[in-house]
Amino acid sequence: MTGDHYFTAEPATPARPREVEFTVAGRDYALASASGVFSADRLDPGTAVLLRKADLPGADVAGPLLDIGCGFGPITCVLATVAPAATVWAVDVNERARALTTANAARIGAADRVRAVAPDDLPAGVTFAQIWSNPPIHIGKAELHELLLRWLPRLTPDGVAWLVVARHLGGDSLHRWLVEQGWQVERHASQKGYRVLRVTR
Ligand SMILES: C[S@@+](CC[C@H](N)C(=O)[O-])C[C@H]1O[C@@H](n2cnc3c(N)ncnc32)[C@H](O)[C@@H]1O
Repeated sequence: MTGDHYFTAEPATPARPREVEFTVAGRDYALASASGVFSADRLDPGTAVLLRKADLPGADVAGPLLDIGCGFGPITCVLATVAPAATVWAVDVNERARALTTANAARIGAADRVRAVAPDDLPAGVTFAQIWSNPPIHIGKAELHELLLRWLPRLTPDGVAWLVVARHLGGDSLHRWLVEQGWQVERHASQKGYRVLRVTR
């Protein structure tokens, strides 16, 4: 990655396009990926646990939905597929990740319902029925807390957030911290060292 982190705003490393294939809820996906984004060569195992264990939105969920830190867009594309009436906002600081998510939304026929934007470009008034994230743990604890404090308050009153965090990267301490901040947090599932947290008001 020539010194780039996956959360670099504008990766300098050559893109070297590739495809990532995976199956969620019986549906096959083949998404565009590239160097310089998180888990560029395969569906991240934590993301796989999240998409397998959390309650995916039903077809009746109209959204809007939010994917925090969309990467090349696997969570966004699954949400847009299982909730075909919903608009999905996908935020990422990494420009290449946003471009890939936009391209992948077109691949799955959801270009008109997926908005991949930089965090500051998401309009202030939009609130979310569901927030999904495999959050960027490596940005540091203070930054991660700031990120969650920025987006979780934008859940609708009966909204739900689904987060996946590796236990060895602080999944349980993040759980405790969220409770201290006044959120209801349930450890919905635990698999392969990953915690799937269900967060509500
Ligand atoms: C663990 S990766 C998950 C990527 C993708 N959702 C997946 O499951 O493959 C976290 C993502 O968060 C992004 N990120 C880092 N800091 C961020 C921030 N402050 N706001 C939004 N996204 C951020 C990174 O660029 C990265 O794409």
